[in-house]
Amino acid sequence: MPQPNLLQIEHITKKFGATTACDQVSLEVKAGEIYALIGPNGSGKTTLIHTIVGLLSPDSGNIKICQKDISQKPQLAKSFLGFVPDNPANYPYLTGTEFLKLTAKLKGVDKNKIQGEINKVSNIFPISEILEIPMEGYSRGNLQKVAFLASLLGHPKLLVIDEPIVGLDPQSIKIFGHTLRHFALSGGAVLLSTHTLSFAKEYSNKIGIIFNGKLKEEIVSPRNKDVDSIFEKSTRN
Ligand SMILES: Nc1ncnc2c1ncn2[C@@H]1O[C@H](COP(=O)(O)OP(=O)(O)OP(=O)(O)O)[C@@H](O)[C@H]1O
Ligand SMILES: [Mg+2]
Repeated sequence: MPQPNLLQIEHITKKFGATTACDQVSLEVKAGEIYALIGPNGSGKTTLIHTIVGLLSPDSGNIKICQKDISQKPQLAKSFLGFVPDNPANYPYLTGTEFLKLTAKLKGVDKNKIQGEINKVSNIFPISEILEIPMEGYSRGNLQKVAFLASLLGHPKLLVIDEPIVGLDPQSIKIFGHTLRHFALSGGAVLLSTHTLSFAKEYSNKIGIIFNGKLKEEIVSPRNKDVDSIFEKSTRN
């Protein structure tokens, strides 16, 4: 049976003055898929991601999350979403656990289920001690991990993650990749942006190459393909 689209982007255009950050971008991510956006600095990845999660309104085009249009039913569409921005918010006076509790409450997780959900995500990385200290003392990588754990609360269907592995050590990158795989295998979908081609190649089912705001090429099942040279060709002026 064909899997449903959990993310559907149709002809998204977003301009900032004379700059067209996204130019008629269309793509789909189905249940079970991990889609990696790659592209040079300034090519439009974060702008596209911000239109998906409702932080920016596109000038034209449509976005549906779990078949719900983000502009027509923003609250419902966003209820299916877990989002990790490229610069995760830092709440200096909260411990990691307090931040996870706050996020679960804001996401509307049933109060009897909050602790259970937190216990479950807290075991993903071996950081139980770190979760008990205030976030002002966190390294960049640990902040990123906690932001990722927070995005998993409330049973999202679609994870959107901007530059997830920049600050992570090699072991954490593996754990992160395996967690995404497990999430997708359980029926979820992931859209992420990354500059690490080897990560995209190993963990994604599809790579989208963005250049000057345009989706230039999609690479299906990138594992056995020469992603580096396709990327190089697609991003030549
Ligand atoms: N708020 C803004 N105001 C004006 N221009 C912007 C704004 N946000 C992004 N841009 C421009 O839009 C283009 C796309 O930027 P964007 O941040 O989406 O790129 P990116 O692919 O995420 O880059 P990076 O790999 O560096 O994260 C760039 O030319 C950028 O300068
Ligand atoms: Mg970016």
